[in-house]
Amino acid sequence: MLKKFNQFFHPQINRIDMSFTPFMANVNGNILQIMQATDDNIPDLLVLEEQVYSGRTPWNKFSFETELRKRRNSLYLVVYQASTLVAFIGARFSPEETHITNIAVAPAYQHQHIGRYLMQMMIDRARENDSDSVTLEVKTDNEIAQRLYQSLGFKGNFIRKDYYQDTHTDAMNMVLWLKPHQIKRKKFTF
Ligand SMILES: CC(C)(COP(=O)(O)OP(=O)(O)OC[C@H]1O[C@@H](n2cnc3c(N)ncnc32)[C@H](O)[C@@H]1OP(=O)(O)O)[C@@H](O)C(=O)NCCC(=O)NCCS
Repeated sequence: MLKKFNQFFHPQINRIDMSFTPFMANVNGNILQIMQATDDNIPDLLVLEEQVYSGRTPWNKFSFETELRKRRNSLYLVVYQASTLVAFIGARFSPEETHITNIAVAPAYQHQHIGRYLMQMMIDRARENDSDSVTLEVKTDNEIAQRLYQSLGFKGNFIRKDYYQDTHTDAMNMVLWLKPHQIKRKKFTF
């Protein structure tokens, strides 16, 4: 039965589990506290954004407030070492697709596999929630992030022209298929 019909007739099936229990993790020698983001974290999140995006905040206070409210199908995690915000990651879940909306690691903590750890955690949750795929958008010139995603199995899917309003950069949509899939081909009539 098609997944959408199955969900319609059996809404309890495929219900997405958004529960999250905070925990401590040792990533590359860093003892990190991983927990769900709340409005209280927004000032720290804005500072972290400024650090990684050369003073810009592509997500402002309002965007964070709006996203953090969508607890039914979204998961936003903050990572602290003591009182320092080290990283964050956000994702929206649906049975068809889990979409990574945001990820950043503070400059002093980059290249220590924290980004990989967070991505892997979301991929595992997408699998547990029976998602068909994990997708994301990345700037076409962000080679570091693309290298991370490729090493996790993501493939370039298509380009979204002028996707980032602040810098007018194109985005590459990337996808990691979690299940066998069919490539939908357009039918051409001549
Ligand atoms: C992209 C980002 C989240 C990666 O986080 P990270 O914790 O530094 O990444 P990791 O240490 O887990 O690195 C995983 C892989 O990414 C690549 N990578 C990470 N940092 C790199 C660097 N400075 N130079 C080259 N490759 C790098 C490598 O392939 C690395 O694998 P390896 O260590 O086995 O070689 C981080 O660089 C960041 O916050 N950048 C600014 C915000 C951003 O661009 N977000 C992504 C938006 S789509």
